[in-house]
Amino acid sequence: MINIAIDGPSGAGKSSIAKILAKKLTYTHLDTGSMYRAVAYKAMMNHLDIENEDVIVDMLKDTDIRLTNDGKIYLDDTDVSDMIRTNEISLLASNVSKHAKVRKDLVSRQQKMALNKGVIMDGRDIGTVVLKDAEVKIFLTASTIKRAQRRYLQNQQLNIASDLDQLIKEIEQRDYQDTHRAASPLVKASDAIEIDSSDITIDEVVDKILEIVNRKVNVK
Ligand code: DC
Repeated sequence: MINIAIDGPSGAGKSSIAKILAKKLTYTHLDTGSMYRAVAYKAMMNHLDIENEDVIVDMLKDTDIRLTNDGKIYLDDTDVSDMIRTNEISLLASNVSKHAKVRKDLVSRQQKMALNKGVIMDGRDIGTVVLKDAEVKIFLTASTIKRAQRRYLQNQQLNIASDLDQLIKEIEQRDYQDTHRAASPLVKASDAIEIDSSDITIDEVVDKILEIVNRKVNVK
């Protein structure tokens, strides 16, 4: 078994694709963005200042985050899988993720989760920091407009009212924050394979990655 790192900007389809791949390969999918979201959620619920790095690091000392095989996330034994998916938490998670000490804490948890291999981990710094030695690294991109349109359709299906122009602005803001922060900014690892999902389907992306994985596994 190998480890697979999937990085890329918000809304490129990382998690949906990682989920399908994990099923096909019977690997474990770990969505690291959900961990930053859970941290932001707990800080918000406790009225903590997201900008204050030390306060958040202190909170983490007493915080349990568990990702289950069926894709749920438990924060201190409470299932927060749905609560962390709001727009508000998306922006707060982006803010919380700029703190180097918060990243250090979560990265070490993520590295422990991948020790036994057979993991597909998606995020922003998996190929560059968390799993530098991952056997397969994918950098998944898509145009801003395509990502906004996909989020818009998802929201429609969930009966969440949204505005396409607003979604574009939010995606641009998060892209800016995620690529410009000092601590592990979103960047393609030099040995990652870039896949642009703008004009291909999820299944086509999955097939491309499976091909890359099979090539790697067969060479070994
Ligand atoms: O993938 P996502 O949208 O659920 O991630 C939420 C935020 O967390 C995102 O704005 C960037 C941050 N993040 C990160 O900095 N590093 C990761 N490995 C995963 C997410």
